[in-house]
Amino acid sequence: WWSNVEMGPPDAILGVTEAYKKDTNTKKINLGVGAYRDDNGKPFVLPSVLEAEERLRQKNLDHEYAPIAGTAEFCKLSINLALGDGNEQVKNGLNATLQGISGTGSLRIGAAFLEKFFPGNKEVYLPTPSWGNHTPIFKHSGLNVKQYRYYDPKTCGFDFQGALQDIAKIPDKSIILFHACAHNPTGVDPKPEQWKEISAVVKKKNLFPFFDMAYQGFASGDVTRDAFAVREFVKDGHQIVLTQSYAKNMGLYGERAGAFTLIAGSKDEADRALSQLKILVRPMYSNPPIHGARIVTEILSDPALRQKWLKDVKLMADRIITVRSQLRENLKKEGSTRDWSHITDQIGMFCFTGMTPQQSERITKEFSVYLTKDGRISMAGVTSKNVEYLAHAIHQVTK
Ligand code: LMR
Repeated sequence: WWSNVEMGPPDAILGVTEAYKKDTNTKKINLGVGAYRDDNGKPFVLPSVLEAEERLRQKNLDHEYAPIAGTAEFCKLSINLALGDGNEQVKNGLNATLQGISGTGSLRIGAAFLEKFFPGNKEVYLPTPSWGNHTPIFKHSGLNVKQYRYYDPKTCGFDFQGALQDIAKIPDKSIILFHACAHNPTGVDPKPEQWKEISAVVKKKNLFPFFDMAYQGFASGDVTRDAFAVREFVKDGHQIVLTQSYAKNMGLYGERAGAFTLIAGSKDEADRALSQLKILVRPMYSNPPIHGARIVTEILSDPALRQKWLKDVKLMADRIITVRSQLRENLKKEGSTRDWSHITDQIGMFCFTGMTPQQSERITKEFSVYLTKDGRISMAGVTSKNVEYLAHAIHQVTK
């Protein structure tokens, strides 16, 4: 039956981990996937998560199905984390929120809903570049994918003018995707003033904003600051859709906890949207996994545990900021004369190094440093122990 099936290529991001695992070099470093590591290079279970799990164990919970949309409490805590406690949207019942299967699953449900019901152009505009999974997710849902300028390779920073020019040319009533904070793969975000201007252009053009917030807390170490763009757009009267993920900021990667929210014009509209979202979910995966969502609920609903979590997020964000400086210093020590200021200017989990695909290939072959071909490195995999070796390897392939 399957002689017609061709071998597919490995995934651009997760395939890097597969290759890394096969490498026997003891000095190997995996900077491919964005997954936080402690300073010993080990996966990190947040102390707040450990405490939440302990509390859950004591509750002797059962393993019954979750509702199709996840629990109402999880959904409310999630949207409040994004928009802030006491926000008008939740108060007035304008949000249709459901638990998604982490960021990817939430994006997929959102894309399916837009494909079916969006009354404008079934076209979604992504920043160039964007997360490698965005294009497949939207295409798989039947939407057309187009681009707007975002990253400026000359400055390794945000191409504000280019973005504004391109956004102004997008046909009215199209969908535009924004990374709410800690842009993946570039680590380059608009400044608050720039977000305000972008919001005005999006309004003027009657575009529909889709926010992907996978890194709330990872950009600045502060979940409120990182929600600036989302809150600003909502304040400006945009009816956004939003995806959230707890993979990074709670370290719940494999638990697949996330959320999708649509902000509607009225409570009735929100209720109708939620009913349709549930109809989309049911044949796809029936209902979401419960364990990660329970951990999230435990953390966000208890003020003391929430404070502990906020400290955990800050600790992770701060460690990444520290290794950014260490990498820059070590490159200087190696004798590199290139301008590496973007390593410390960029934020979040990733650094878009500027290494070419050839250099990325060489550093993997010769030094067992694994990264995606676009030159993105996950700073979360850099430690005080491997940073010298990494700087040496980068210098060797870029000098
Ligand atoms: C990444 O970009 O490395 C992460 O978002 C993980 C993933 O699923 O690609």
